[in-house]
Amino acid sequence: MDAIEVIVTKRDGGELTTAQIEWVIDAYTRGVVADEQMSALAMAILLNGMDRREIAAWTRAMIRSGERMDWSALDRPTADKHSTGGVGDKITLPLAPLVAACGAYVPQLSGRGLGHTGGTLDKLESIPGWRASLSNEEMLSVLRTAGAVVCAAGSGLAPADKKLYALRDVTGTVESIPLIASSIMSKKIAEGTGSLVLDVKVGSGAFMKTAERARELAETMVALGTDAGVRTVALLTAMDQPLGVAVGNALEVAESVEVLAGGGPSDVVELTVRLAREMLEAAGVAGKDPADALGDGSAMDAWRRMITAQGGDPDAALPVAAETMTVDAPSSGVLARLDAYGVGLAAWRLGAGRARKEDPVSFGAGITLHAKPGDPVRAGQPLMTLHTDEPARFGRALAALEGGYEVGGSASQELLPLVIDRVTA
Ligand code: URA
Repeated sequence: MDAIEVIVTKRDGGELTTAQIEWVIDAYTRGVVADEQMSALAMAILLNGMDRREIAAWTRAMIRSGERMDWSALDRPTADKHSTGGVGDKITLPLAPLVAACGAYVPQLSGRGLGHTGGTLDKLESIPGWRASLSNEEMLSVLRTAGAVVCAAGSGLAPADKKLYALRDVTGTVESIPLIASSIMSKKIAEGTGSLVLDVKVGSGAFMKTAERARELAETMVALGTDAGVRTVALLTAMDQPLGVAVGNALEVAESVEVLAGGGPSDVVELTVRLAREMLEAAGVAGKDPADALGDGSAMDAWRRMITAQGGDPDAALPVAAETMTVDAPSSGVLARLDAYGVGLAAWRLGAGRARKEDPVSFGAGITLHAKPGDPVRAGQPLMTLHTDEPARFGRALAALEGGYEVGGSASQELLPLVIDRVTA
C-alpha cells in the first residue's frame, strides 16, 4: 500500500477501505508513514469526514496499535466516565470513589490539562505524595483496595493516538469529530472498562460550543463504544458557566472533598449523583443509591482508601497560593453573566494551567467564585478571589475576565440546563 494513494482517496472525498485504514495507522505508528503524510491525511479527514464504518475501523486500528487492558479478574462490573473537559470540572474526583462505594469498580485513565481546561491528574497531584503513574499490577491492586483508581495512561495504550494527537495539535486538525471521537474512544475501549458514561460539555468553556456539535460527537462516540461491546451512554451537560465555585487544582480538590463530606455546591453534587446513577445503570449494578453514599460517609471512605493506595495523604494540608486579590462588584444588582471561558482563561493565566505539555502547574493557583449567575450582589462585595504564586500574573488574569462577567438589574445570561440531553445507542 501507498500513503499517497490513501491521502488522495480522502482528499477527493472518497471512502477509505478498512484495509487502507489498518495499514496507514500501523505504518504511521511504526514510522513508515511520515508525519507530513499523516498531517495531510488528517486535514483531508477534517475537511471531508469519515462514515461510521471508517470511524470504527480507524478506532479499532488505534486500539490494536497497543495493549488492551483486561479487568475480568475482578468480581464486580467496571464502569468509567469521560468528560470532554470544562472549567471547574472536578467531577471525576468525587465520582470515582462514589461509584466504587455503590458497588462497581472504576478503572480510570486520565489526562493532564492543556489550555483553559484543567486535567484530573494535575488536580490529584496537588495532594502531597499522590502518584499518577502506576503499573498495571498496581492499578489492579488499588482497584481491589479502594474500588476506584485514577491514573495516567501508560505508553503502551493506543500509541497511535498519542502520536497522532500530538500531530493534530500542531496542524490545526484537532476539531474533526471523527478524529476526536476515535481518539477518545480508542483510549477508553483499550482501558478495558465494561461500561462508559460520556459527559460531553456544551458552551463557551467547552470544546464543543453548540449543542448540535456536542450531540454529533456524543452520537459518534456512543456508536463506537456500543459497536466495541462497551455499554455506552452520553449526557450533554452545561459548560456556559464554571462548575461549582472552585477553579484550579488544589481549590478543586478541596471542593471535591466537601462534596464527599455531604456538602459542596449544588451543581457539582447534582451532576456527580446523576453521572454516578448512569454509570451504575450502565454497569448493571443495583447497589446503594449515590445520594445516600455521599450522606453516610461511604464515598469519603473510598476516596481516602484510593488516595492512600496511590501514596497520597488525604489529611495533608493542600498547597495554598502565595498571593490573593479580590474582584469586587462595581454596583449593586445581580450577577447577570459569568462566562466559563473567561474564568478558565484567567485561572490558566494565574498559573493553574499550562501552555505546553512539559510546563509545570501551580497547585494553589486559581479562582474562588463568591457569586454565580443570578445571585444578588452589593456594590463592593467580592465576586471572586484570584489566587497565584506570582503577583505579576494578576494583570493578565484581570484582562481575561474583562467582559466575562457583568452586574446588572436582572440576569441577562440565558443559562443552559445542567443536563441538556441524554444520548443512547
Ligand atoms: N481529547 C482526546 O483525547 N482526543 C481528542 O482528539 C480531543 C480531546
